[in-house]
Amino acid sequence: MTAQLIDGKAVAKTIEAEVVAAIASLGIAPGLVAVRVGNDPASEVYVRSKAKKARELGLRGDELILPESTSEAELLAHIDRLNHDDAVDGILVQLPLPPQIDAKKVIDAIDPSKDVDGFHPINVGKLHLGRPTLAPCTPAGVIRLIESTGAAIAGSNAVVIGRSDIVGKPMAALLLQRNATVTIAHSRTRDLPSVVRGADIVVAAVGKPLLVTRGMVKPGAVVIDVGMNRLATSDADIVAHDEEKSRLLAKNGTVLVGDVDFARVREVAGWITPVPGGVGPMTIAMLMRNAVTAAQWRRR
Ligand code: GUN
Repeated sequence: MTAQLIDGKAVAKTIEAEVVAAIASLGIAPGLVAVRVGNDPASEVYVRSKAKKARELGLRGDELILPESTSEAELLAHIDRLNHDDAVDGILVQLPLPPQIDAKKVIDAIDPSKDVDGFHPINVGKLHLGRPTLAPCTPAGVIRLIESTGAAIAGSNAVVIGRSDIVGKPMAALLLQRNATVTIAHSRTRDLPSVVRGADIVVAAVGKPLLVTRGMVKPGAVVIDVGMNRLATSDADIVAHDEEKSRLLAKNGTVLVGDVDFARVREVAGWITPVPGGVGPMTIAMLMRNAVTAAQWRRR
């Protein structure tokens, strides 16, 4: 049996339609500002895509681009200004930040009601208490992907691999809230394969190419791959068994793979997300959802 593919692009389109409908009933265009400090190439792409998608769906989407040399005080002054700007419903500061800026101070400075990334300690606390809040976009998107399969979350054994503040920890909180039995595995977990083998739902979010192998996955499990690892030709042996990825690597000199050995795990899983085209498209869609939610809550 081969796993059914979870189409992140299709589910993201559904979310985007919800966003468009919610904006229509709100009657105003929510304002979203994506802040970038410096010229990290990945951050450039992300921030531009976020502002562009916002405008495409009928939000007011802006980029605030600051130089690499920006001081912490200068960035905090911009945050303060955006916090007090009534036309701004959502603020996100793209991470990572240059070394002279403490990301924790920046996150703490964002008005929690405008914190569309869901990273502020107030929002993290609410998430873990099961109270309504702006939840981090990637794990919230993963929940929607799991729901799209029709698989039951309540009562399932869910294993989250990775304990980052952005994905692993909030992912575990969202699954627990939906009554899964949740295990968080990480770099110090003893015998990862046996832990993962018990999972009905696996969420891999560690950034280790092809960490999750076929032998680790329970037949029929839902496997969600949050990993985004770019391999170079020097890594060709990692994907040697994967015809498609090897072909792309030979053609382009680089290839994007997840934390799951897709080619082999798909032979046993019930459902699986591809990389790219799985979790990736959901993150920005959920950010748009959060921006609209922030506008609804702030304006009621
Ligand atoms: N860097 C990596 N992921 C994220 C994210 O979800 N939000 C922000 N702001 N920065 C990130």
